[in-house]
Amino acid sequence: MMIVLSLVYRHLEARMLRLIYTSVQTPGFDRASFERLCNQAAQKNRELGVQGLLLNNGVEFMQCLEGSRESVAAIYRKIVIDSRHSDIRLLVSETTDELLFKQWSMVGLATKPQAVLSAESIAYTLLDHRLYRPWKSLGIGAADLIYEYAKVKAELEKAGEITLLSKVFDVYQP
Ligand SMILES: Cc1cc2nc3c(=O)[nH]c(=O)nc-3n(C[C@H](O)[C@H](O)[C@H](O)COP(=O)(O)O)c2cc1C
Repeated sequence: MMIVLSLVYRHLEARMLRLIYTSVQTPGFDRASFERLCNQAAQKNRELGVQGLLLNNGVEFMQCLEGSRESVAAIYRKIVIDSRHSDIRLLVSETTDELLFKQWSMVGLATKPQAVLSAESIAYTLLDHRLYRPWKSLGIGAADLIYEYAKVKAELEKAGEITLLSKVFDVYQP
């Protein structure tokens, strides 16, 4: 019985879908717009059991969406026609049985100006300089940043230090 249950469970989990894309924000989109967007996204994602990470560097977005195939696909269909961004490039579409951003209905991380960071040694150890390259220029490799920050999240959570993320990013966690 236990074996059957765990097989069923694995089967259900394995049907999770992960999408990672980059896009370019529409001119006039600012930090207040980003905060509103994160609130809207987190609320909707909570209802649908979707989680993920939304990065913003002041010019571009990079997002990871994870959840059931149906929910993620439904949200993505809306995202691609949203006028707040354009030039959407899907980098990763993969099924998975392991969510990278558990408990994050949609956490928004907006990069701080680099000048702010240089004064902080902790910020420097967390900093990935690829955050400050145009993500479009990184091509498919931009998705590595998402996997890197999933590791950072896991490590900081394990150490009980997740608040350190706010040294590198303005964090919007509705
Ligand atoms: C960069 C970006 C990321 C977004 N992420 C999400 C998201 O994770 N979840 C979500 O429901 N909507 C997200 N949206 C908003 C959707 O495009 C859409 O506005 C929202 O789902 C509400 O749609 P509705 O009012 O037609 O239901 C995002 C929009 C942008 C521009």
